[in-house]
Amino acid sequence: MISSEHDLLDQVFPLDTTRDDAGALVIGGASCEELAREFGTPLYIYDEATLRAACRGYTRALADAYPNALVLYAGKAYVDPTLLQVAASEGLGMDAVSSGEVRVAQAAGLPLERVVLHGNNKLPREIDLALELGVGRIVVDALEEIEIIDELARRRGQTAQVLLRLTPGVEAHTHDYIRTGAVDSKFGLGLDSGAAEEAVARAMRAPNLDVMGLHAHIGSQIFDTEPYADTVNITLDFAEHMRAAHGLDLRDLSPGGGGGVRYTLDDDPPDPADIVAAITSTVLARKLPHPPRLLIEPGRSIVARAGVALYAVGTVKHIPGVRTYVSVDGGMADNPRPALYQSKYAALLANRTGDGPPETLTLAGRYCESGDVLLRDTVLPPLRRGDLIAVPAAGAYHMSMASTYNMVGRPAVVMVSDGQARLTRRRESDEDLLAVFP
Ligand SMILES: Cc1ncc(COP(=O)(O)O)c(C=O)c1O
Repeated sequence: MISSEHDLLDQVFPLDTTRDDAGALVIGGASCEELAREFGTPLYIYDEATLRAACRGYTRALADAYPNALVLYAGKAYVDPTLLQVAASEGLGMDAVSSGEVRVAQAAGLPLERVVLHGNNKLPREIDLALELGVGRIVVDALEEIEIIDELARRRGQTAQVLLRLTPGVEAHTHDYIRTGAVDSKFGLGLDSGAAEEAVARAMRAPNLDVMGLHAHIGSQIFDTEPYADTVNITLDFAEHMRAAHGLDLRDLSPGGGGGVRYTLDDDPPDPADIVAAITSTVLARKLPHPPRLLIEPGRSIVARAGVALYAVGTVKHIPGVRTYVSVDGGMADNPRPALYQSKYAALLANRTGDGPPETLTLAGRYCESGDVLLRDTVLPPLRRGDLIAVPAAGAYHMSMASTYNMVGRPAVVMVSDGQARLTRRRESDEDLLAVFP
């Protein structure tokens, strides 16, 4: 066992990941070797217990501190109907960004009033579908959306309940945290530019809109809690000003998502309870006569740890004195994060324990791109064709960002619980890919 394996299993892999007597990794009671045999590789494995525990990390903290709240799972992190049913059964709603995501919520039987539709350029047909299906909130992201949503609601004889997305001048990413006056973002309505106030004024006048509240999302993979408190204060200051100037009645306050996760042992993310405490204590400190409902939108921090990517080793190329490339049967098309963001990951040999001194190697993908490298200079036991490699913290922004680059179908997804695995998304075949051509 390499020295960090214990810590990886304890802190990065799904809860209670172990090895069986033959040395295979066991996730949710299911052996990775048996899962690979039954479902093939690459395979994405989601552990139901870890997913539920992460949902509860938010819901329990809120139940204690601020019960008038709804946790919206950010479907962009990854969504399929089974996974969403689990989240829904934990009381969550969903942050959707397309008609496709709304339809997954519908397929999962999630009450659609618990869905919020976001997007900086929602198509009119997507807004119309949201109105038709009774999606709970539509988030106005740009001034011109006010008239578009108002008109679509008028045609349906409905009132659209909307939130306005602010660009609050807080930008957070990991430990970088910037507060600026000028905001350069494609999302939202700027406070300093006056767009946010103009949006309030116009939306309040729009006869078919009910402005329920304000939203702000300041970034992702955030490791500090202070930016959340700042965002809440900035948003509540603005709401107070808008109440006086335009009669805004703030019924919903949505400080977005963004909680960081541990991809490797070097990451030290906050506990969801700390994020919740930063938000709720800031709201409560204002002693508002009518505190708004809180909508919190974590994606990654709910689902990242629950997911593991399982690959099979193919070719092994030693370049003496340079590097050893071990190529697996997945790569940048199912996990674009290393190529896009230089993201770091960990990995373990998953079908057996190692039988030699660990080696430094580079785990490459199968795609026709030199940059298709999943892990550079990682330390693993000597690997051979057919070995299985498990990459943890793979639950968020892998399968949801996956492509069919090189005309390779996307992997299958299973959910494991109590030793049972159910297929939640089937592997795409060559026939699936060819089916798009007329
Ligand atoms: C509006 C909004 N809410 C929530 C999220 C989820 O962020 P995360 O997965 O980092 O929690 C995002 C991510 O981009 C977002 O844009």
